[in-house]
Amino acid sequence: MPIKILSVFGTRPEAIKMAPIVRELLQRSSQFESIVCVTAQHREMLDQILRSFGLTADFDLNVMQHAQSPAQVASRVLAEMPAILDQVRPDMVLVQGDTTTTFATAIAAFLGRYPVGHVEAGLRTGDLQAPFPEEMNRRVTTVVSALHFTPTREASNALLREGVADERIVLAGNTVIDALLQSIRPDYVFDEPALRELPRTGKILLVTTHRRESIGEPMRQVCQAILRLKKAHADLTVVIPTHRNPAVREIVVGTLAGQPGIVLIDPLPYLDFVHLMARSDIILTDSGGVQEEAPSLKRPVLVIRDVTERPEGVTAGVAKLLGTDPDRIFDAVNTLLTDPSAYRAMVGAVNPYGDGHAAKYIADAILQWHRHQNR
Ligand code: UD1
Ligand code: UDP
Repeated sequence: MPIKILSVFGTRPEAIKMAPIVRELLQRSSQFESIVCVTAQHREMLDQILRSFGLTADFDLNVMQHAQSPAQVASRVLAEMPAILDQVRPDMVLVQGDTTTTFATAIAAFLGRYPVGHVEAGLRTGDLQAPFPEEMNRRVTTVVSALHFTPTREASNALLREGVADERIVLAGNTVIDALLQSIRPDYVFDEPALRELPRTGKILLVTTHRRESIGEPMRQVCQAILRLKKAHADLTVVIPTHRNPAVREIVVGTLAGQPGIVLIDPLPYLDFVHLMARSDIILTDSGGVQEEAPSLKRPVLVIRDVTERPEGVTAGVAKLLGTDPDRIFDAVNTLLTDPSAYRAMVGAVNPYGDGHAAKYIADAILQWHRHQNR
């Protein structure tokens, strides 16, 4: 009998990072039966990724509401998930990362006595308030998980320090690298017309921002730094695919719309986005996934956050943790734009987030765990 795996995800980054696993399970159909449930914590941004990877959902909870709070999302997922679990009766429920979907699904599965496998386990900042509420989500998910698939040695060590048994930790690498390496190609042509029209001369600064703890003054400061950079560098083009969170849009569109050389666009399909990263000179971001992708593309990544649960990029030298102080952001970008040796020093590092085969290692580990369970 194939092992029945219910993969549950709800937001854009979860879908990107689960796609390689769902593909792997589908390919190994004699070993696995793959069932997908989306919560649709994100609606448009999730559907865009499902299309990008040709994924279809067997169940769709359609929970997203305008300007939702994490508690509202959690309550809807907790209300709907038990019936799906009891209908599917999976051997394992896979969740990914640290969103509200992740932790609410993990709790529902635990309460229903279904084993949870946590993909991208062991990320920690050590500060329960940052990122908020993701640090809580990931810690709670750890507590209820049976298997923990870590992206790096540091993440495995964090779990060991918390008392997770060694045999339950599988160092797999991050599936975001699988997705990236399966997608990047030299002859890619952008779907989005604004990207096809990017100038051939001058530098490109790619910006993404969406973190809940940055909304308000920190995000406004980032926008001020971008305006100053644009003023100082006439030939700089700033591209900002703007997250659909209305609180983010109010600040980013409110401050930067209509400025020459600043291209504000809707969230991009995955292929457009990763090829835009490859086309950019510098990436300024508070995104987790983007921090992981940039090193593989040899692009310097400046992180507009006070703490990161991904210290590997900083240690490798390809990422710098800046915070949101506008002077600091201005100086860091300005240095990379004007000092070729500072630029070269950041892009030589090896990607610390995996070899692009994480999904295979995860499937192999589930197989082994299942055999052990049934001995
Ligand atoms: C969520 C995750 C965060 C992750 C981010 C990825 C939590 C608590 N946060 O944050 O960890 O980094 O996704 O992007 O789980 N919206 C739309 N359409 C969409 C998506 C969002 O309109 O396709 C709007 C809705 O008004 C929604 C709001 O954005 O209510 C916020 O979405 P939500 O998923 O709650 O939070 P994010 O800040 O996106
Ligand atoms: N991404 C995308 N389109 C965009 C912006 C980002 O496909 O317009 C991808 C990006 O390649 C990365 C992921 O979305 O894999 C990051 O998602 P996000 O920043 O929303 O969430 P986080 O990683 O911070 O949780």
